[in-house]
Amino acid sequence: MAPADHFEIFLATAPGLEAVLREEVVALRFRAAKQVPGGVTVNGNWRDAWRANLEVRGANKVLARFAAFRAFHLTELEKRAHHVAWGEVLRRDVPFRVEATCRGSKIYHSGAAAQRIEKAIREELGAPASEDAAITVMARIESDLCTISIDTSGELLHKRGFKVAVGKAPMRETMAALFLRQCGYDGGEPVVDPMCGSGSFVIEAAEIAAGLKPGRERHFAFEHLATFDAAAWEDMRRAAPAAKPAFRFYGSDRDAGAIEMSRANAARAGVAALAEFRQHAISDLSPPAGPPGLVIVNPPYGDRIGDKKRLEALYRALGETLCTRFAGWRIGLITNEAWLAKATGLPFLPTTAPVANGGIRVTLWRTAALT
Ligand SMILES: C[S@@+](CC[C@H](N)C(=O)[O-])C[C@H]1O[C@@H](n2cnc3c(N)ncnc32)[C@H](O)[C@@H]1O
Repeated sequence: MAPADHFEIFLATAPGLEAVLREEVVALRFRAAKQVPGGVTVNGNWRDAWRANLEVRGANKVLARFAAFRAFHLTELEKRAHHVAWGEVLRRDVPFRVEATCRGSKIYHSGAAAQRIEKAIREELGAPASEDAAITVMARIESDLCTISIDTSGELLHKRGFKVAVGKAPMRETMAALFLRQCGYDGGEPVVDPMCGSGSFVIEAAEIAAGLKPGRERHFAFEHLATFDAAAWEDMRRAAPAAKPAFRFYGSDRDAGAIEMSRANAARAGVAALAEFRQHAISDLSPPAGPPGLVIVNPPYGDRIGDKKRLEALYRALGETLCTRFAGWRIGLITNEAWLAKATGLPFLPTTAPVANGGIRVTLWRTAALT
C-alpha cells in the first residue's frame, strides 16, 4: 500500500479549544479544516505537516494519518500492516516505536496490536524498534478500522525551544496563544499581563505581532523520516523579515524571580525589544501610555488547601485596579473557580467550555472594552 500523496493531518489540542484552533488553521490557509473531538483535521501532504508544526501556534502535536485498513483480528492486522509502504515514510536506520489504541473493535488488546505492527515494520523495513525512539507510529483501531499515523512533532509543540525558565504554574504556550486568539487578539494592539510568571502571554503576543513563526528554532520528529527534504525545509523555515509592531507588550509580577525569568525567556525568543517586564504587585499597576488593548492574566488558582480568603482578596484587588484604571481595555482572565472570577466584580461575557491545563480545568473569562 503506497502512502497517499494527500492524507489527513490531525492537529491535537486540549478538548474545549478545538473551535479556536480551527479558526487559526483556516487563517493559515490549510485545506479542508474540520473540527473534531480533541483537535482539527486538515488535508495535506508531508510539507503541509511540516508547515503545521512550524506555523500553527495552538496545536499540541501534528499527526500524519497516512494509511488505513480494516482488520478484525490480530493475524489480519499483522498481514495488512506488512502491506503499508513503510519504506517510503520510515528510515531503516532510525529507531521507531508503536503505540496502539483500540475502541469498539474486535481487536481489543492494544499492547498485542502494537506488537504485531512493530513486528511487521521490523520485518518489512529492518528498522530497529526502541522504547525511547524519536519516531512514534500510532495505530488507532476504531470500529475495526486501523488508522496509521506518525507523530511528526516529537516533543510537544508548546516547547517552542526558547524557554529556559518556567515558574510554578506556567501557561503552556499553545494554550496561551489560543486564549489570546479567543480574546480577539491579532497582533494589532498592546497586551498587558500583570501576573506574568514566566512571561508566556507577553512573549506569545509579541511574537504574533512580529510575525515570528512559533517553530522557527526547534527540531521536529519529521526531520528523521524518509519523506524529509532538508533543503525544502530550510526554504520553508527561513524567516520572513520580522514585522515591526507599532505596540509594546508588558508583563509585571510581584515576584522578582518571575521577572528575571520573563526577561531571559523574551531575550531567547528574540522579542526583548518589544517586551517590558517590571517587578511590582497589581496594586501598583497602571496602563501603559498609548491606546488601550488587552489585559490577559492568570492569577494563582484556587485549590482545596489554599487560603480562600486571601485569594478572594487578591482577585477583588485585581478587579478594582482594572475597573478603575483600565477604561477602554478588554480583559481576559483564566482561572479554575467561577467564584474567584466573580470576586473581581468585572462585567464578564458568557464563558466558553472549561479546558484542562496540566490537570487543572480552567475557564477563560472575557469582558468587552471596560467603560
Ligand atoms: C499562575 S501564575 C502565572 C503564570 C504565567 N501565566 C506563566 O505562564 O508563567 C500566577 C502569578 O501571579 C503572581 N502574583 C501573585 N500575587 C500577585 C500580586 N499581588 N501582584 C502581582 N503578581 C502576583 C505570582 O508571582 C505568579 O507568578
